[in-house]
Amino acid sequence: MNTYHLTTFGCQMNDHDSERIKGLLESIGYSEAKSRDQAGLILFNTCSVRESADSRFFGHLGDAKRLKREDPSKLVGVGGCWSQSLKESLFDEFPFIDVAFGPGQIHGLAEFLAAESIEAQGYFDFEGFSGDLPVKRGDRLLAWVQISQGCNCVCSYCIVPSTRGRERSRNPDDLKLEVESLAADGVKQVTLLGQNVNSYGRDLASNQIIDFADLLKMVDEVDGIERVRFASPHPKDMRENLVKAIADLPSLCEHIHLPLQSGSTKILKAMKRTYDRQRYLDRIAMIRELIPDCAISTDIIVGFPGETEADFDQTLEIVDRAGFDSAFTFVYSPRPGTEASQFDKQVPHDVKRNRMIRLVELVQRRARERSQRFVGSKLEVLVEGPSRTDHSKLRGRSRHNKTVNFEGTAAPGDLVDVEIVEATSTTLSGAEVLSSRLASV
Ligand code: SAH
Ligand code: SF4
Ligand code: F3S
Repeated sequence: MNTYHLTTFGCQMNDHDSERIKGLLESIGYSEAKSRDQAGLILFNTCSVRESADSRFFGHLGDAKRLKREDPSKLVGVGGCWSQSLKESLFDEFPFIDVAFGPGQIHGLAEFLAAESIEAQGYFDFEGFSGDLPVKRGDRLLAWVQISQGCNCVCSYCIVPSTRGRERSRNPDDLKLEVESLAADGVKQVTLLGQNVNSYGRDLASNQIIDFADLLKMVDEVDGIERVRFASPHPKDMRENLVKAIADLPSLCEHIHLPLQSGSTKILKAMKRTYDRQRYLDRIAMIRELIPDCAISTDIIVGFPGETEADFDQTLEIVDRAGFDSAFTFVYSPRPGTEASQFDKQVPHDVKRNRMIRLVELVQRRARERSQRFVGSKLEVLVEGPSRTDHSKLRGRSRHNKTVNFEGTAAPGDLVDVEIVEATSTTLSGAEVLSSRLASV
């Protein structure tokens, strides 16, 4: 029996690609091993967005090298963005790797396994959508849908355009069929995935042109899908028609992830983000006006080359003012081949660290304060299962994307009202309002 074991690093895109890698392998007769040492095929789906992602992965790769030394019949395969960034040269540095493939070449893995020869092979052309491959979904109720691949932006710090290629949108008819079939399988929530979801559609043939707002309408119309989310939009394409669509479509959740990166116009320019501080704040104001009470989350990089204390203060000031419900914060990490890695005035490590500590402190304080608005209110929660911290309670998510732990009797997949009694920066807790569920039966 052919067995595989797959370890995934990186973003939601990689999590979803891994569901496709598993689906593909199982469609050709492989089954999943419980642990790496029991597998004939040891696989990794890698990320290279920051140096820390690389180093986390190297420990695991060393483990695979050892297992292969002990049993040379094992195959080691590495997919994802780290592979794509090194291409064929990774075989020189890591000769024990048998097969390597980029995010646009997951099908290359099946080709390799079917080939007569097991000579090391690399597959790196940007060819296919992983979304077109068979899938083994990791969750019964929540599903990802890949709407596009790649990125046409040129953010000077970012390795992703080189690892995922130019932006290509999937055919809207295929997407509709995929969402309908997920609904038929009992899926309640879909998250539409792309590097820059709100530029969806610009590359489609002229007889197919639809934009991201049209796509949201199409997905909203699918019966059975109660909630629609998406990641990530780019502030430059966050136009009024899109925000209005999010406001009007019932299944679109009141949560927008809008990556800020920096609050300083000078740094945003050096990052090549194509918006300035004021334009970002205007987008936030528009969202707040059209979708009252919308949760807004963001990504922020500290210590970009040339970032002064005054630039950093401008970031702090936006965090204080914008009222983010959460923020992912990253220390700038120079990536090979990116423009910013060649910039002068790299910020010393201890300065980056110190700014990070101050930023996280503010992000958490503001998130905690923002969370309090939910205390005393009734929120619709999609039940996911038992609470992770207390098994006598249930866990679910609000439309604002907050984890909610609560007392109740509902089953996974139910939508219930929960009365919120307590809020921290990341989670809410409360009790199910029982009458609401009975009334809806
Ligand atoms: N396409 C998405 C996300 C890309 S990567 C978007 O543009 O929103 C996710 C986040 O990683 C980015 O938003 C950025 O905040 C961070 N990131 C990317 N490259 C980085 C680098 N070199 N150093 C530190 N953080 C980085
Ligand atoms: Fe990277 Fe910028 Fe593209 Fe996001 S929009 S993937 S940060 S280049
Ligand atoms: Fe995602 Fe990492 Fe690639 S963040 S797009 S897996 S570099």
